[in-house]
Amino acid sequence: MFRPGTVPALPRHSLSSFGGYFPGVPPGPPRTARNGPVPRDPYRSVVAVWQAARMSDPAADRARYDRATAHLDAPVAIVDLEAFDANAADLTRRAGGKPIRVASKSVRCRALLERVLARDGFAGIMSFTLDESLWLARAGFEDVLLAYPSADRDGYAELAGDPKLAAAVTVMVDDPAQLDLIDAARRGGSERIRVCLELDTSLRMLGGRVRIGALRSPLREPAQLAELARAVARRPGFRLVGIMAYEGHVAGVGDSLAGRPLRSRVIRLMQSAARKELAARRAEVVRAVRAVAPELEFVNGGGTGSVQHTAAEDAVTEIAAGSGLFVPRLFDNYTSFRGRPAALFAQPVVRRPGVGIVTVLGGGYPASGAAGADRLPVPYLPQGLRYDPQEGPGEVQTPLIGSPADDLLIGDKVWFRHAKAGELCERFAELRLVEGDRVTATVPTYRGEGKTFL
Ligand SMILES: Cc1ncc(COP(=O)(O)O)c(C=O)c1O
Repeated sequence: MFRPGTVPALPRHSLSSFGGYFPGVPPGPPRTARNGPVPRDPYRSVVAVWQAARMSDPAADRARYDRATAHLDAPVAIVDLEAFDANAADLTRRAGGKPIRVASKSVRCRALLERVLARDGFAGIMSFTLDESLWLARAGFEDVLLAYPSADRDGYAELAGDPKLAAAVTVMVDDPAQLDLIDAARRGGSERIRVCLELDTSLRMLGGRVRIGALRSPLREPAQLAELARAVARRPGFRLVGIMAYEGHVAGVGDSLAGRPLRSRVIRLMQSAARKELAARRAEVVRAVRAVAPELEFVNGGGTGSVQHTAAEDAVTEIAAGSGLFVPRLFDNYTSFRGRPAALFAQPVVRRPGVGIVTVLGGGYPASGAAGADRLPVPYLPQGLRYDPQEGPGEVQTPLIGSPADDLLIGDKVWFRHAKAGELCERFAELRLVEGDRVTATVPTYRGEGKTFL
């Protein structure tokens, strides 16, 4: 399944400067899917169950977060490390021994990527741009799977010209035109580029008239993937190493919506049909591609909402997940797991327009995706605040309505949860890491390192 020792050892990446943040984390480069299978730790999974079951009390959390950040003015973003670690443990428990490749887009903070990769059960990064992938590989992350096709010619030229980068980064392909683009961009670089093929996971019903799932790869049938695998094999300069199939309509769609039992039931039925259809097709695809490329190293699937289901498929060798670490609000509504909100941001109360109303600075940080109320951050602590329907969360100020407003003073913090995970880090340069009721470290986000990849 894995090919130990194929990646040349890179120097300890510059994150060694983060080493002091996490005294409990042993030194050494992050474990990768390719430097050996991830050992199981039965004791850790018992702890994980216990930790995941131990939901904390929101009022006590608010008191803790307020105490921890009393010396800091809002806006401020925090990650509760106890919740983060409990969420990580729950993900590995659900993966049942298969390694989890951490989706960097859902974290966007190198120190936290390093922290999670130091744990048993996590191996490798799933990145989101070529520029980011090269940056991570240069920093010492040895196994970076770029999950989205790229048209970054400069990036490909750098990848094709550097043996260390070419050994660490795998790029995504679902069309021979992408291979042409890479070859045209090489500028003389002769390194073999590691390639992963993406499978369309969508569910088709009513003879193809209804389609459920993201519009991603055009490759759906085993024969189509085998044909592209042959095209890769025929071309010098490329090496087929993986297959990726992300079932977003299962992993990224909550199936237990508060107050919507009928809709939840329909989603569950859809997801059960989708899982069944995909499991059979994924196994066939893997068989067909392995016949062309027996040296295939990995088959990646799943996401936070589907970890245990995807891990149960024999054809899948590793699971992708990231959102399950921060647990943003879009990941509240799943029957398959229950995580702890770990990433929050606070905005300061700046005025009090009337009884039962406060106004905080800023707060309008909507998430990507089809626009809708579910893309908005939610006022979280103190509990019981809501937006003014006329205004919503604003660019520079956000009125909040509800009786808890009357207990808030100018300068107090209101804590919010973002709708999605990593996008929060595009709004903040730093994350304050909270343990108990103290900030024990401050780490830069990608943005804080001057990196805004998307
Ligand atoms: C290819 C791929 N795999 C997995 C995931 C799941 O990531 P997460 O667990 O952060 O939702 C995503 C998210 O969009 C993805 O694009």
